[in-house]
Amino acid sequence: MKFGVIGAGQMGGGIAQVAAQSRFTVVVQDVKQEFLDRGRAVIEKSLAKLHEKGRLTDTPDVILDRMQFTTDLNAFADCDLVVEAIVENEQVKADLFRQLGQIVKPDGILASNTSSIPITALASASGRPDKFIGMHFMNPVPLMQLVEVIRGYSTSDETAQFVTQTAERMSKTPLACNDFPGFVSNRILMPMLNEAIQCVMEGVAEPEAIDGIMKLGMNHPMGPLTLADFIGLDTCLAIMEVLHRGLGDDKYRPSPLLRKMVQAGLLGRKSGQGFYTY
Ligand code: CAA
Ligand code: NAD
Repeated sequence: MKFGVIGAGQMGGGIAQVAAQSRFTVVVQDVKQEFLDRGRAVIEKSLAKLHEKGRLTDTPDVILDRMQFTTDLNAFADCDLVVEAIVENEQVKADLFRQLGQIVKPDGILASNTSSIPITALASASGRPDKFIGMHFMNPVPLMQLVEVIRGYSTSDETAQFVTQTAERMSKTPLACNDFPGFVSNRILMPMLNEAIQCVMEGVAEPEAIDGIMKLGMNHPMGPLTLADFIGLDTCLAIMEVLHRGLGDDKYRPSPLLRKMVQAGLLGRKSGQGFYTY
């Protein structure tokens, strides 16, 4: 199987890595060579770590040999499945899927790793809504078990079955849900992270205490502010906007502090500064 990934950021890189570990031929595309180089370096580091722990069936070199890095969208022409993992913006994703619908072979399946954006709207832009689906991996992809599989209004049974089987071939656990804002994962997770940010803004406690209370008190592996920094505060804000717009209720309103931090360029781990310094 030929597996395409668009975006060599933290999610695209992770998806491409796990696809190559699963012995698929992989094409990764991004808009600039420097983003591809950075993505490849992260993959090399992750593979080295997994190899050291005996968690790979092939050596890192063999796995990397299955991967092609390119800035050319036409490299996806003969892919059986293309998973998009670019910025969480409906317009930018829809523009990309309009182009991909013209490039990828007619029986190729298109999927979005979006955290929250309506799958049905992106499916319409692609011009092949029956062969379109949400394939939502979790961060960090090499370590997390779940793939949330989201059917759009017109997704065919064949497409859902193919993507479910592909997730299983990648040693992940696919779980199905329908196309509502934020799906299941982020409808439940993101309001908690937003509330933690609101607690910082209101001075309820220091960030370290908020994270410690949730880690030690609820047995969460990461505190909510550490997790928001890890996901990216820009992505968290984009998801909250989709929830607020799509579900209407004021309980989904993004915290003003979250908005201000994104405006200031404090995006968390990826920019070196968020609730913590990296
Ligand atoms: N590849 C390979 N190895 C990795 C890695 C990667 N990408 N990331 C971390 N590791 C390694 C670490 O180097 C570390 O190795 P050592 O034991 O040799 O030091 C090991 O994994 C364990 O990591 P840590 O000791 O740092 O921490 P941990 O035990 O807490 O595990 C974790 C890390 C699995 C990420 C854990 O903290 C966790 O589960 N955090 C929550 C993650 C989460 O909630 N993800 C979902 C985010 S929301 C989402 O994805 C959806 C969305 O749309 C926003
Ligand atoms: P990121 O900022 O780490 O990476 C995005 C990458 O996409 C960048 O390398 C950027 O150069 C590239 N890109 C932007 N526009 C592009 C285009 N038109 N064509 C090709 N490449 C383009 O972001 P990320 O955290 O990897 O998130 C990517 C997607 O995955 C988003 O939709 C996000 O909501 C979703 N997601 C994120 C997480 C997370 O925890 N960060 C988890 C699950 C899903």
